[in-house]
Amino acid sequence: MTGPKSGLIALPALAVMLFVLGGASPPAKLLRNLKLTSVSVDVPQDFEQLFPEGPDVESVNTNCRACHSPSMVMVQPRLSKAVWEKEVAKMITTYHAPIPEGEVPKIVNYLSSIKN
Ligand code: HEC
Repeated sequence: MTGPKSGLIALPALAVMLFVLGGASPPAKLLRNLKLTSVSVDVPQDFEQLFPEGPDVESVNTNCRACHSPSMVMVQPRLSKAVWEKEVAKMITTYHAPIPEGEVPKIVNYLSSIKN
């Protein structure tokens, strides 16, 4: 007996069969023109690495290593506090780094003091 249940199962199966029998591969011309471009950015990812000692380094280790290794930060030249503030704000607004507001001054203070 075929109830509504078996009909529900049979329909997608039929659709798949038709798709396969109908020649599922896209035309060769389409494939030739297909360009795969990367939409990701490559960032250094050495999650074992820690930030060098400094004031409130724990906060920086906690909040700044989720997406890239400390080297991404350490290769930067010595920057002013104002520039570090902008940099941290960029991580939060542009890359959605989940950094609690209260941690931002600590991080900025650390960053502007380590390279002195
Ligand atoms: C949510 C992910 C994420 C977190 C967390 C994060 N960053 Fe980034 N950061 C990125 C990405 C992505 C890039 C690479 C941007 C590029 O290559 O264009 C980057 C790049 C950088 C750069 C290189 C310069 C630049 O602006 O591209 C610095 C410096 C930096 N991050 C500092 C930090 C600091 C400091 C923290 C902690 C407060 C932090 N990041 C936390 C995602 C993150």
